[in-house]
Amino acid sequence: MPLIEKIKSESGTIGIWELQEPADDLLKNCQLHPADSERLNAFRSEKRCREFLASRLILQNLFPGYPQIVYTETVGKPVLKDSELHISITHSANLAAVYISEKKAGIDVEQLDRNINKVVQRFVAPQEIDFIEKGSHPQLAKIMLWAAKEAIYKCSGLPGILFNKQILIEDFDYRAQNHFSGKLLYQGITTKYRLNYHIVKNNVLVYCVEE
Ligand SMILES: CC(C)(COP(=O)(O)OP(=O)(O)OC[C@H]1O[C@@H](n2cnc3c(N)ncnc32)[C@H](O)[C@@H]1OP(=O)(O)O)[C@@H](O)C(=O)NCCC(=O)NCCS
Repeated sequence: MPLIEKIKSESGTIGIWELQEPADDLLKNCQLHPADSERLNAFRSEKRCREFLASRLILQNLFPGYPQIVYTETVGKPVLKDSELHISITHSANLAAVYISEKKAGIDVEQLDRNINKVVQRFVAPQEIDFIEKGSHPQLAKIMLWAAKEAIYKCSGLPGILFNKQILIEDFDYRAQNHFSGKLLYQGITTKYRLNYHIVKNNVLVYCVEE
């Protein structure tokens, strides 16, 4: 089974799964809660079934006898029922990843060659432009900013966030370090986040916890 990597962070563990097997094969090894079986049956695409099952298999692996995942009604953020631990889930075309953490956490994985030029203005703040343009690898910087903001958005559990105005990422040298910081501005309150990035199988994975 392709659980390809486990990363220990200071507050928890991240499991990364390579999406290779068909959904039927994943299902054979997956112990689903009844609510998850219902959710699975509602999916139409094979890809959606595979990513959903992979996330449960990761969780099963990190956390045998894992609690049920429920989703908040407001924004659809996953929560572990009757557990103090936090969960965040992400998928790309070829990977799924789950972050289980003692602190509020967010995770996002994006393929490195994904073309996001059309949405750059919607998610990059003016003070972040240099981060993209001055580095030696603008595409990596762009994808990293995007994934960092998605991770912070997921961690927050808040609705209607403007990525280019309310989520700001501190400039950092991504060739020299893999940790950085960011903040979310919401209704007069600033929340700070510690972020890490990790390159895996032509994807960038960004994960964060609230400081
Ligand atoms: C919902 C959203 C966060 C999903 O992100 P994505 O990159 O498309 O997809 P990912 O595979 O990384 O993440 C999907 C997982 O995120 C989780 N998720 C969905 N909504 C969430 C939320 N509001 N908060 C936290 N987690 C959420 C779910 O667990 C989902 O997986 P599952 O349904 O299999 O359990 C994203 O589509 C979104 O709405 N982003 C913010 C909106 C926005 O304005 N973005 C662009 C700004 S330019």
